[in-house]
Amino acid sequence: MAVPVPANAPDESTWQTLAAAAEEACTHAHSPYSHFAVGAALLTRDGKVFLGCNVENVSYGLTICAERNALFSAVTGSDQRPELSAIYITSIPRLAAPPCGACRQVLAEFGNPLVSFLGQEGRQTVPLSELLPIPFVP
Ligand code: THU
Repeated sequence: MAVPVPANAPDESTWQTLAAAAEEACTHAHSPYSHFAVGAALLTRDGKVFLGCNVENVSYGLTICAERNALFSAVTGSDQRPELSAIYITSIPRLAAPPCGACRQVLAEFGNPLVSFLGQEGRQTVPLSELLPIPFVP
């Protein structure tokens, strides 16, 4: 059965723009401890793209993921509460890297974007609600 495409789903060229932007963001990662660089490009419903990379810290626990950095940029750069349309995540090296649980919860605060990530069997694009079926909501 065909999975319905959400009305706000990006078209192919928009996904390519997001992919290129995420690759660029990935090159900015500060990941001297894990040597795992992550880049994320977040598209809001009003058509803006916000970027994030992971920023690690010598204390390890203060590390922040690429996805949350992109989300925080979207909040900072939006006049109104941003509504998320899609997020593209990439990494170097190219290993499976679905967004972590904390990032899922933080993204869910701002909608149900399509999430494109490298899974165990290749690139997958699924609604956030599939990755976090029962979010904590107010
Ligand atoms: N990381 C992300 O940037 N996003 C995730 O969803 C999972 C993990 C980062 C954190 C850390 O800098 C590195 O990947 C290794 O865990």
